[in-house]
Amino acid sequence: MIKIEHLNKIFNENRSNAYVALKDINLHIKPAQTVVIKGVSGSGKSTLLSIIATLIKPSSGSLMVDEQMIAKLPDTHASHFRNVHIGFIFQAFNLFDELSVKDNVAMPLIVSENRQERIDKKVLEAMELANITHKKDQSVHNLSGGEKQRCAIARALVHNPHIILCDEPTANLDRENSLKFIEILKSFKALGKTVVIATHDPLFDNLESVDRTILIEDGKIR
Ligand SMILES: Nc1ncnc2c1ncn2[C@@H]1O[C@H](COP(=O)(O)OP(=O)(O)OP(=O)(O)O)[C@@H](O)[C@H]1O
Ligand SMILES: [Mg+2]
Repeated sequence: MIKIEHLNKIFNENRSNAYVALKDINLHIKPAQTVVIKGVSGSGKSTLLSIIATLIKPSSGSLMVDEQMIAKLPDTHASHFRNVHIGFIFQAFNLFDELSVKDNVAMPLIVSENRQERIDKKVLEAMELANITHKKDQSVHNLSGGEKQRCAIARALVHNPHIILCDEPTANLDRENSLKFIEILKSFKALGKTVVIATHDPLFDNLESVDRTILIEDGKIR
């Protein structure tokens, strides 16, 4: 369960360029729900996902995940929390271009898993699910946009997180690969994952696998 209450985010707080990016956000997401956050560019979608992922801290308000207070965790605890609970598919992939697909996918396991055969098994399972195994030894810079996206999806899944956050997951995909991503969404659902997707892609409108759509406008939920 993700529980956000009276959450505000002000960038550059107490400075002349202070910017209120999120205003009094209240949002409860039940386990195994798939929620879409819609809103125009600059409305605060990535900021909200990054706060849920503990990548940035809110200015005020609370964030609870599974009854644990997350908002004020110190950085070392936050990275541990992220490593156990969160898979994040970033808007700009954030892959290591010089490394192979399988080495990118293995990244989240480096801190938690030390047996090579376990790493190999998990990496292979994640690559299979994301349909990228055939490129496992290629460097990421040789991949197409859709293949990079699938590599990012495999990396988000490899440590078996129960919360998956997707930031504009189809922004770089053609229609065929976007439809494949919708299929992957269905498999997340079948696995009981809690999924939050930030997007302005109309493809996510009225999808059977989406339980809720939330509109964010100017940092506020409408
Ligand atoms: N580190 C930062 N410092 C100052 N302002 C920021 C920072 N990060 C984001 N913002 C501002 O906060 C607002 C919300 O940004 P955010 O990235 O959350 O939007 P978004 O809804 O994800 O947009 P897009 O659809 O373009 O990805 C924007 O106006 C942005 O300029
Ligand atoms: Mg964004």
